[in-house]
Amino acid sequence: MKKSSTTGGGNAIVTKVSFIAALAGLLFGLDIAFVNGSLEFIVKDFSLTVSQSEKIAGVLLFGAAVGAAFSGWISRRFGRKKVLLLASLIFFLFTILGVFSPTFTVLLVARFILGLAVGIASFVAPLYLSEIAPYKIRGRLIAMYQLMITIGILAMFLSNAALAHFGSWRLMMSVIAVPALIMFIGALTLPESPRWLVLVGKPEKSEKVLRRIRTSKEEVAFELNEIKETVKIKSSGWALLSKPYFRKVLILGILLQALQQFSGMNAFMYYSGQVFKAAGLSNPAVATIIVGLVNVLTTLLAIKYVDKLGRKPILYFGLTILVVSTAVVGYLFKLRPPGTEMTPVEQWLTLIFSLLFIFGFAVSLGPIIWILCSEIFPLKGRDFGITVTTTTNWISNTIIGSFTLTWFQHLGVGGTFWMFGGFLLLGFLIVGFLTPETKGITLEELEKNLENGVPLRKLGKKAGS
Ligand code: BGC
Repeated sequence: MKKSSTTGGGNAIVTKVSFIAALAGLLFGLDIAFVNGSLEFIVKDFSLTVSQSEKIAGVLLFGAAVGAAFSGWISRRFGRKKVLLLASLIFFLFTILGVFSPTFTVLLVARFILGLAVGIASFVAPLYLSEIAPYKIRGRLIAMYQLMITIGILAMFLSNAALAHFGSWRLMMSVIAVPALIMFIGALTLPESPRWLVLVGKPEKSEKVLRRIRTSKEEVAFELNEIKETVKIKSSGWALLSKPYFRKVLILGILLQALQQFSGMNAFMYYSGQVFKAAGLSNPAVATIIVGLVNVLTTLLAIKYVDKLGRKPILYFGLTILVVSTAVVGYLFKLRPPGTEMTPVEQWLTLIFSLLFIFGFAVSLGPIIWILCSEIFPLKGRDFGITVTTTTNWISNTIIGSFTLTWFQHLGVGGTFWMFGGFLLLGFLIVGFLTPETKGITLEELEKNLENGVPLRKLGKKAGS
């Protein structure tokens, strides 16, 4: 490359910026997994009933649904950087408030506000990442963000297990303050998103940022031009609702996100401790760590294969594993009347099929639903579509977090897993009849097919093939 064309910016800064934004994913994972391992101490401390204890998970998830619903508007109004800064400040301050909560109600308030930050970050961090990263690696970023979430979950499982012998949920929660503080300090140095700067009429500032984060002047000029072109297309979510083709993809996105949550994955993420205890495993905390580890490793695998094998074959593969494992885990619990112990063989089988379940989810529904939801909407309605589908994810997640323990009580652990299995069977219909294969087709081609009335399932077919 000619010397005159370099800008002094480049990969180091992109790496730094991506790391800070990815911390949002980590905090997301830490916050949602916090209950798993700490719940029994919180219950003891405040003498909680089952329905009160479910609120500790539920209220954070509800906050996330509210945060996600407003995140599109907030990030457009104030800019991605300020919003990330705000989210990290909330993560830090309200973790501290949570740690020192004098009453259960204060803890719930702190968790609700932490949830707002989780919901906002779950929209803004991937958005910011995709606007900062060079276009060549954009596709992988969503999967990387998912990986950070799983690492956050695993880190919380490990930390809760390591701190369990102190018996203090406050100590367990305080751990979350550390990455929150790092993210806050780091976010102070983040550049604003170049795309947002153009969006609010500041192209000169956008160019300045691009010079910091790209390596050549040609790249800067090309990208600035591209941003200006796409920004001309006005975002028009509500107006698009009158178009049947847009309603179709919106419904598909909503169904896919609901499917992801009603698979029951988060029953494990929040309450695997309770599941393994009910199975009589002697060390539920260790089993939970293995769950977290399988989740991380499988997500790595998914990142590697999703562009090679395509979305739909992996979804079918994952759904099959999920249906089989919910059926078996459910059966193992059904086999024993409540109060009677599982045999060691049954305990092992419960662990093995639970891990298979985690594998099935992490290889398929976990990353792929987020990828699909970022791909299926036409550019004009993308922000709106992603806001609606992300909010659906959080509302469904709230239901799982808020009622799983009650379902365990009334339907039994076995009945609850069979119920999840029923939803997963419906998943075959959603994937089979409604979901397009989006591998190897540009988003522009998908959009053209959609506007031309091509059925959902065939959207991924290139014109003329
Ligand atoms: C889901 C989360 C879940 C996580 C587990 C994500 O794709 O949206 O609800 O906790 O995967 O790894």
